Amino acid sequence: MEGSILSHVTITTFILFFSILFTSTSATRLLTSNTNAQFVKASCSNTTYPKLCFESLGCYANKIQSNPKMLAHVALNVTFSATKSASDLMRTLSKLHGKKPREAGAIADCVEVVGDSVDELARSIGEMGRARGSNSDPVINDIQTWVSASLTNDDTCMDGFAGNAMNGEVKNIVMKNMTKAAHLTSVALALINSFASSQGNSALIL
Ligand SMILES: *[C@@H]1O[C@H](CO)[C@@H](O)[C@H](O)[C@H]1NC(C)=O
Ligand SMILES: *[C@@H]1O[C@H](CO)[C@@H](O)[C@H](O)[C@H]1NC(C)=O
Ligand SMILES: *[C@@H]1O[C@H](CO)[C@@H](O)[C@H](O)[C@H]1NC(C)=O
Repeated sequence: MEGSILSHVTITTFILFFSILFTSTSATRLLTSNTNAQFVKASCSNTTYPKLCFESLGCYANKIQSNPKMLAHVALNVTFSATKSASDLMRTLSKLHGKKPREAGAIADCVEVVGDSVDELARSIGEMGRARGSNSDPVINDIQTWVSASLTNDDTCMDGFAGNAMNGEVKNIVMKNMTKAAHLTSVALALINSFASSQGNSALIL
């Protein structure tokens, strides 16, 4: 009799214990992932394109956590992918027959400058591992220079299509794709700049 009451109490205690444990860990997990997403959202709100930024980077929140270097690194990777597919698109368009001569000239320029953007972003990703969160770190300064150059190149490509004389399907495709790549590059640059300033900030907090 006594033994069965005891075991009943023990079982109830165990069930209670594990349900509290389970609830608190899943609550902690939920809170943590919210905090991670909030960090990405807050950082994105400091960029020129907060919506595109969070749409593109929010899904990496749990990998990024609250690490400004990881955020900048992921942003560079996402920007590289978009720029690489824009570059591939320019190559495809350059081989397309039936373009107007002005379109052909503009596309040829895009193949060159967007190809340079891909190289500059690849170089930046290669150096990101040893970059420090300091505005005086030569590694982060190189990355800032390359990513700025990449943004300028994207704009140069789009400038080639300025004016109504260029209107048409080729221009529409180019502008749509390059605008997204350029906006992501602008976001990545803002997050890199913010990482570069981060060591100074944390020193102040400490
Ligand atoms: C946003 O920018 C301000 C001003 O530069 C800075 O103080 C703040 O830390 C930034 N916030 C985030 C989350 O990057
Ligand atoms: C960035 O991309 C490279 C190559 O695809 C990959 O190895 C690396 O893990 C990525 N880094 C981040 C922070 O996403
Ligand atoms: C344009 O860019 C996106 C990535 O930003 C890519 O997925 C897409 O295939 C590209 N091409 C076209 C024709 O839109």
